[in-house]
Amino acid sequence: MSPKHSREFLTVQQHILLQQHEKAPGASGQFSWLLSGITIAAKIIADRVRRLGLFSLSGAAGAENVQGEAQQKLDVFANDILLRTLGMRDSVAILASEENEEPIVCNVGGGGHYVVLFDPLDGSSNIDCNVGVGTIFSILRCDGEGRGVGGESAVLQRGAQQVAAGYIFYGSAVSLAYTTGSGVHLFTLDNAIGAFVLTQEHVRIPQRGGIYSVNEANSLSFPEGYRRFLEWAKSKEAGPYSSRYVGSMVADIHRTLLKGGVFFYPPTAKAPEGKLRLMYEANPMAMILEQAGGLAFVGGDRRRILEVEPRSLHQRTPLIMGSPEDVERVVAFL
Ligand code: AHG
Ligand code: MN
Ligand code: MN
Repeated sequence: MSPKHSREFLTVQQHILLQQHEKAPGASGQFSWLLSGITIAAKIIADRVRRLGLFSLSGAAGAENVQGEAQQKLDVFANDILLRTLGMRDSVAILASEENEEPIVCNVGGGGHYVVLFDPLDGSSNIDCNVGVGTIFSILRCDGEGRGVGGESAVLQRGAQQVAAGYIFYGSAVSLAYTTGSGVHLFTLDNAIGAFVLTQEHVRIPQRGGIYSVNEANSLSFPEGYRRFLEWAKSKEAGPYSSRYVGSMVADIHRTLLKGGVFFYPPTAKAPEGKLRLMYEANPMAMILEQAGGLAFVGGDRRRILEVEPRSLHQRTPLIMGSPEDVERVVAFL
């Protein structure tokens, strides 16, 4: 292999450029510049997560976000960093975050081609006890008009229209997974050189994982099929099923991607539409898992998450996603 096409010591930045070079030789490089905004923010957030107690950044910020959830100081910090690193990229037309009620119009009509949606810090309830958290992002093309209040209607596109999606997982190592629709690629932050280095190209999710991941404490208010699945999963007939639930979606999906299994968040009495947000949690994770050979459905009707027509930026959706065989198992009970 010529040095130009070597996969050794490849940073995420180089990987994106290489992919563009292979698929769209005339690409302007704007897209990779945009993604570099995300990786710079991720490195800053990772650093703060690592040294949390030292920065008086732990604990609640004293405010609530649009979902009526208590914001943690780190939620606010991560959001500010992403808004800053992405907001100065000319290619960004609109930014939309879990922490902001309305989308933020940056550069519509002046060369901005992309809408970037993100959950700046996922798993905030886990921050103060040193459990893995993450950042999730979804990228859509902008039609250039930025219609509606703050451009909301430009943002409301189906997940199938995402041009890229990914997450950063601040765990015992910092991992980054991204897809632009040609597979899922995994990188690890090498602190010594300050770059995300390729660790696995074209990741494939196992066909079956034998792990279920759900907040089982809510199970009494799950629709009946989910309860029957959970009963079955504990039976001899099901074979060995294990249960793993971190409570940070990024951590649970990262494990699901690598080890297989099924992650689901059904409707509950408290959250009749499920808890997770369609636009910046469910859609990007659905694209990642599908690109790795997995499935991502809304419920028992096997409707793909990526086909849901969004009505509002912060809408929620129930979801079942992961290895094909484990997902089909849950669906069979619904
Ligand atoms: P966020 O911290 O961005 O609000 O997301 C929390 C989400 C997600 O990370 C996780 O899968 C889910 O909440 C856990 O919810 P439960 O505590 O209800 O199980
Ligand atoms: Mn989240
Ligand atoms: Mn969050």
